[in-house]
Amino acid sequence: MKAVILSGGFGTRLRPLTINTPKSMVPVLNIPFLEHVINHLKTHGVSEFSLAVSYLAQPIKNYFGDGSRFGISLTYTVEDSPMGTAGAVKNAGNSLNKRILVLNGDIFTDLDITDMIAAHKKNKAKATIALTPVEDPTSYGLVLTDNNLRVLRFLEKPNPDEITTNMINAGTYILEPEVMALVPPQTNYSFERELFPLLLKNGEPVYAYPSSSYWMDIGKPENYFQLHYDLLNGKSNQFRYNNGKRIVAGKRCNIHPTAKITGQVIIGNNCMIGEGARINGPSVIGTDCHISTDAVIDDSIIWASVYVEPQARIKHSIIADNCHIGSASNVEESVLGDKAIVTYGRNVKAGSLVSPGTIVY
Ligand code: GTP
Repeated sequence: MKAVILSGGFGTRLRPLTINTPKSMVPVLNIPFLEHVINHLKTHGVSEFSLAVSYLAQPIKNYFGDGSRFGISLTYTVEDSPMGTAGAVKNAGNSLNKRILVLNGDIFTDLDITDMIAAHKKNKAKATIALTPVEDPTSYGLVLTDNNLRVLRFLEKPNPDEITTNMINAGTYILEPEVMALVPPQTNYSFERELFPLLLKNGEPVYAYPSSSYWMDIGKPENYFQLHYDLLNGKSNQFRYNNGKRIVAGKRCNIHPTAKITGQVIIGNNCMIGEGARINGPSVIGTDCHISTDAVIDDSIIWASVYVEPQARIKHSIIADNCHIGSASNVEESVLGDKAIVTYGRNVKAGSLVSPGTIVY
């Protein structure tokens, strides 16, 4: 079965990280998020992919190319401006004459795709929607089913008194070709708000596939952090931290013997960790980073080619590519877009979202 992955949204909630980097390319444990998604699908035998791209499509194409480097076949459909989730899939045109698997490209999950396909076939469903439980469903789309898991109703962003289930739409669908025929061509159209309710109205068999497998939507910075914590703590089947090693450092790293690294820490290739520097996990340091003498990195995610000068302190923050953090400066609970510069001795206030290229002085 072909998988169509939606990778064209603006990712506004993840700004400033997504101003120059599409959400699909945001690194997780030092590889692009989408690579994790593709790897998971490959374990379920999916080898044919189409990426529905729009906003910042080029970096995705540059990295994944025709997919051969990843052992898959990969094509792209490009929207001039985002056409909504269903509109984007419709854009895939000819390839829609077969059953398809559709995925939101910002979800990390251990969902058993093989079993979901089997359930879809057994139910003779026209559409099957994966569901996942969440603690607070108020900001999600709820899916109400009967005892046989046939979908009865959708409830978008419900009021607390309307909530009778904590099972939300998990952003993975299996669709029969006739379902996609209902999507108007060249129109902005949504699965969640338009197509699925229309299928129910038409009396079509729409089924749910509930699963308690690991699931995380990286749409917001706090979720992006949480995904790292969860992966480093073994909550997903897709990653095991360290195989007993204390730290996981990449190739050609130069770590000074007096540097102190504690907790779960991943360090990319070609990094320099200076004398007396401290890195406290959970933290991830990207490739080609320089962490100078006596700098402290605490509970943070640092992307690639970041230069941290002596005695700088970074705490519970995300620092995107090519940032420069000046000596004795302090960055706390903040998100820095790429190429931001924090000058000598400055404080970046907790809660700051620093746009790419900004100079904090
Ligand atoms: P926010 O702007 O923060 O809401 O993020 P988003 O634009 O990514 O939207 P959302 O989280 O609702 O999207 C879920 C998934 O669908 C993401 O993987 C998006 O990239 C993708 N997506 C959303 N809208 C479109 C669209 O119009 N076209 C395409 N190709 N993908 C989309």
